[in-house]
Amino acid sequence: MSIDKLIDSLASQGWYVWDDFLDLSDVQAIKQCIPETLQDARIGYLNTLQDNKGIRGDQTVWLESNMGAPIVRYLDKMESLRQELNYQLFLGLRDFETHFCRYPNGGFYKKHVDNFKGQGRRKITTVLYMNESWQLGDGGELVMYDLQDKALFKLEPLAGRMVFFLSEDFPHEVLPTQQKRESIAGWFLTEKIL
Ligand code: OGA
Ligand code: MN
Repeated sequence: MSIDKLIDSLASQGWYVWDDFLDLSDVQAIKQCIPETLQDARIGYLNTLQDNKGIRGDQTVWLESNMGAPIVRYLDKMESLRQELNYQLFLGLRDFETHFCRYPNGGFYKKHVDNFKGQGRRKITTVLYMNESWQLGDGGELVMYDLQDKALFKLEPLAGRMVFFLSEDFPHEVLPTQQKRESIAGWFLTEKIL
């Protein structure tokens, strides 16, 4: 079962790619719940919007259970994963925060880490991809690095696929996309959201 592979891979290498984490119909149902108008993504609270545009070009909306049953199903699924990860790996994950991201044509996200060592509450990053007709040459791949800056792999943003990685250990970037690119990023947290 993939959950066992997820646990093994997180423990041994710190990341895992789960193809078909969601069916296409689930991905489509989630998209239906997302509003047309989103907010420009922000990084921290001190950066101005203008600075951010050079770093990331996506727009986001935080996901809440009042957005519809498909969102609730996704959140429930992530909640059972949280419990299983805690049970098997003693990670002390206490909560999950997640937002939908839309990159317009030309959008990218420069190399970054989601959480610097010991400086925040993000422990495991998840990214669910939602592009149903991605083709070679469309760009928008995720490139993962290790802490020595060695490129580990490049991942196509195929609908239904979810990548998991330890938030502190893997710098990563989103290459410029030639198509509208939609995904859901999430973070298992070591602290409860207030
Ligand atoms: C992020 C991020 C990667 C991706 O939102 O922090 O790095 O592939 N996303 O969308
Ligand atoms: Mn990231």
